[in-house]
Amino acid sequence: MDALETLQAEAPARIGGAGSLDELKAVEADLVGRSSVVAEMRRGLGALPPDERPVVGQAVNKVATELAGLIAARRSVLELEAENRLLLEDAVDVTLPGRRIAGGAPHLITSTIDEIIDIFVSLGYRVAEGPEVETGWYNFDALNTPPDHPARAESDTLYVEFGDESDEMLLRTQTSPMQARYMQQHEPPVYVVVPGRVYRSDTLDPTHSPVFHQMEGLAVDEDITFGDLKGTLSHFAKEFFGPDTETRFLPHFFPFTEPSAEMYVSCFACDGSGCRVCGGPGWIEILGCGMVDPNVFDAVEYDPSAVTGFAFGMGIERIAMSRHGLTHIKHLFENDVRVLEQFG
Ligand code: DAH
Repeated sequence: MDALETLQAEAPARIGGAGSLDELKAVEADLVGRSSVVAEMRRGLGALPPDERPVVGQAVNKVATELAGLIAARRSVLELEAENRLLLEDAVDVTLPGRRIAGGAPHLITSTIDEIIDIFVSLGYRVAEGPEVETGWYNFDALNTPPDHPARAESDTLYVEFGDESDEMLLRTQTSPMQARYMQQHEPPVYVVVPGRVYRSDTLDPTHSPVFHQMEGLAVDEDITFGDLKGTLSHFAKEFFGPDTETRFLPHFFPFTEPSAEMYVSCFACDGSGCRVCGGPGWIEILGCGMVDPNVFDAVEYDPSAVTGFAFGMGIERIAMSRHGLTHIKHLFENDVRVLEQFG
């Protein structure tokens, strides 16, 4: 009975001192387990004189029930603590600033093409695209460019070998072949712009690349005049380079237009006093243009006595470079993230 009293006196402190569920388990085994004082006394009940048995038995049971209650209460407390600790460790700090996700953006070539297209679409033009591998007929013959023209030499044009083809196959050197394709597929009037990739047998230097982009334009209708050409392209220049942009048309030669011209815009960087962007004169050449040669109408079976038209073609890289002051065309192809971010 003394041992029982000692147990009863010491147990609450031991149970309360268990700092974890594991520690509590060990204390429990000690206090009420198989080799505990309680278990031993129960086992010894049979050896007691019959009149002492109920007294001792009740006393042991009372202490055992008391200990079980204390242990269960302590277990609840420890379980609650463990759960709280878990919730605390898992907690999300909603006050932390979010991580910035770098957004993608259209490439400068793409956004330049889109911007030019928007200007012409607002004038009623359609957009068409054509094949990059082209026949000699569409790239040259239909465009009034004879077989002995220097542009057809292998030094200028990249040819593609196809076993059985009777017509020569090449990587288109300009978007102009789409003039012929489009007119063959559509009756006049025609108002269309054609963006696309073109190829030349050029080596890379600051202003040339064997692959680059052009935008072709074609307007065919009754009574189209050179005045329409100038008005349309001057409007384009003001929309694209700014409302104060002036334009100049200097005579030039292209096989598929007659007369032909090169259009210059007043330098948006120096307004004519001379700078790095325009190279001094205050004017930047941005496109070739002219009135569609009747031979081109003949080739696509349009009646040159019924319709007239103008055409133009511009280099996208050239326009993007001069507008943004880029000094090497490679910046438009290398995809250096610093360049992409600057223009994205
Ligand atoms: N195709 C010409 C070139 O690549 C550009 C050009 C000039 C296109 C005059 C035209 C044009 O449609 O009328 O240099």
